[in-house]
Amino acid sequence: MIRLENLQYKYADGTTALKSIHLEIQKGEFLLICGPNGSGKTTLIRHLNGLLLPSSGRVVVDGVDTATNAKHALKRVGMVFQDADSQIIGETVWEDVAFGPENMGLDSTEIQERVDHALDLVGLQALAQKSCHLLSGGEKRRVAIAGVLAMQPAILVFDEPFANLDYLGVTQVLQQIVRLHAMGHTIVMTTHDVEKVVAHVDTIAIVHGGELKTVGFPEKIIPQLSQYGIRPPCFSLFGEKTVSWLTE
Ligand SMILES: Nc1ncnc2c1ncn2[C@@H]1O[C@H](COP(=O)(O)OP(=O)(O)OP(=O)(O)O)[C@@H](O)[C@H]1O
Ligand SMILES: [Mg+2]
Repeated sequence: MIRLENLQYKYADGTTALKSIHLEIQKGEFLLICGPNGSGKTTLIRHLNGLLLPSSGRVVVDGVDTATNAKHALKRVGMVFQDADSQIIGETVWEDVAFGPENMGLDSTEIQERVDHALDLVGLQALAQKSCHLLSGGEKRRVAIAGVLAMQPAILVFDEPFANLDYLGVTQVLQQIVRLHAMGHTIVMTTHDVEKVVAHVDTIAIVHGGELKTVGFPEKIIPQLSQYGIRPPCFSLFGEKTVSWLTE
């Protein structure tokens, strides 16, 4: 569904943030990209929806090169940014979540349904009429997630979705992501907090110093996390089997 071929990316100041990345993401896969701060996770996923274009190499979404048609990738891939503030556009919570569906040209009944449903999913219905700039950090993140849910893209990308969220927030957001995966959506998530999500992912990729170090099934990758400065899940330290954050 998505193919990264020898992807390299250099920022304007000369920083080489990604070096020859090869990666394939299958339809319906739940891929976790982990790596320490500054390793290149955000830079990598910003290539998936054409927000950044490769300095060299290619990113191909459903057979379409993002460098020749970035709009296609933008439609197919919905992204929840690491910095929720930068994603908020609407005045009120409801208006913000409606922004995407409105831009898709949907009729008003469909918009109403999608926005209400998305707000229910993230537990924000009670704040629908509140002004976005008065929200807490965790609430803003939920608004951003609701906004992407309302667009129902085939591929959903979450950049550090648990940052700023409390325990209830983490489990609510995780539940929605797991549900979307079960519905057949392709999910890509970045985090350095592997423990919260590892029980639900199909594949883990480790990014370090702009390089893709390894990619594979969780059982194979978990023992390698600490050598790249990523904290392994607690249960793995005690030799336990995978534990989900959704089990009480
Ligand atoms: N706009 C920019 N201009 C120049 N360098 C940048 C820019 N954005 C990021 N970088 C650099 O690119 C590298 C990768 O950054 P990136 O944001 O992709 O890392 P990350 O893995 O997402 O980190 P974090 O865990 O802190 O979110 C870092 O060395 C960073 O300093
Ligand atoms: Mg980042």
